[in-house]
Amino acid sequence: MDQNLQVRLRSLPLEAVEAAQFELRSAPLPTPAPGEVLVRAHYLSLDPYMRKRLADAVQGRVALAPGDLMMGRTVGEVVESRDPGFRPGEAVLGWGGWQRYAAEPAGRLEKVAPVAGLPLSVHLGVLGRPGITAWLGVVHVAKVQAGERMVVSSAAGAVGSLAGQMGRHLGAQVTGIAGGTRKCRAVVEELGLHACMDYKSPSFVQDLQEATPQGLEVCFENVGAAVLDATFDRMNENGRIAVCGLLGQYHSGPPYAYRNFARVLDRALQVTGFRIDAHPQLHERARADLRAWLQAGVFRQWETVSQGLESAPAAFVAMLEGRGQGKTLVQVT
Ligand SMILES: NC(=O)c1ccc[n+]([C@@H]2O[C@H](COP(=O)([O-])OP(=O)(O)OC[C@H]3O[C@@H](n4cnc5c(N)ncnc54)[C@H](OP(=O)(O)O)[C@@H]3O)[C@@H](O)[C@H]2O)c1
Repeated sequence: MDQNLQVRLRSLPLEAVEAAQFELRSAPLPTPAPGEVLVRAHYLSLDPYMRKRLADAVQGRVALAPGDLMMGRTVGEVVESRDPGFRPGEAVLGWGGWQRYAAEPAGRLEKVAPVAGLPLSVHLGVLGRPGITAWLGVVHVAKVQAGERMVVSSAAGAVGSLAGQMGRHLGAQVTGIAGGTRKCRAVVEELGLHACMDYKSPSFVQDLQEATPQGLEVCFENVGAAVLDATFDRMNENGRIAVCGLLGQYHSGPPYAYRNFARVLDRALQVTGFRIDAHPQLHERARADLRAWLQAGVFRQWETVSQGLESAPAAFVAMLEGRGQGKTLVQVT
């Protein structure tokens, strides 16, 4: 068996995140203690919450310091088990972090069944947290109905690309918001959304207004800041905003001051934040729908996969800079 390889934090980002703020280190293979399982990662998920964690660490709100291993969700294979519930060769989801091998407490692992014809990465995408999160926002929180008009921000991202396709499948007219004309074109042509607005364009606010002449009943919000501010203004009376994430605000700078927040009152908007971990009782229902929709060909699955753990820092920066589509992953082995 080879040695372990890890990516650790070299320094905390005071401004932009850069690959040089991480370092690659060799380490001895971890030895599982009783009740632990040694897992070899196949795929590592890279996510915006990691950016938020770094910003929180700068402000002293979370314990994450130079030298620490970066956290992260992985899907992989049991190599050695010291827990009766797991056997070598089984596929598991875990929180192994940015490393090849992790000795994880059995209680933190979840067995996953391979899906015919699809790589294990599907458990970090459609059947994993992005899929369940999108389902919670679309089905449970916003309760999207056929004929409604819906907007999704970060529409080309992991959660947004699935939320948009779910809304479309449920019969809503879905407008996406994404960065750049190339991405917007793909959102319309490949994901089948009604339209897509480029939030980086200087005419974005007007473009969104023109694209939604009858307003919007539903917003699936991933970004916040200026993008949500523009959307507040397009919401119809009694509209629903499912706040999934605020990735445009995950930095250490001053908070964004909303100009159009008064629309929440003027138009009696329902603004509901939700977190995947607050609804564990709904995950199986979500997975059942997601599996059925996956089999029915509802989703185009977008993945941006980089090769080897060494590529994780650059792939993380690329994701934050919008140089990827759909779920960002590292193929570790
Ligand atoms: N509520 C929950 O339980 C839960 C669970 C998972 C994720 N989330 C949240 O859901 C949101 C989406 O997560 P995800 O994993 O699917 O990530 P994602 O959307 O794939 O994130 C990467 C994309 O974010 C966009 N982006 C980056 N910085 C931006 C900025 N300043 N303004 C606008 N867009 C920016 C970029 O796309 P462009 O090229 O379009 O800019 C980039 O490709 C995040 O806010 C995340 O925190 C919430």
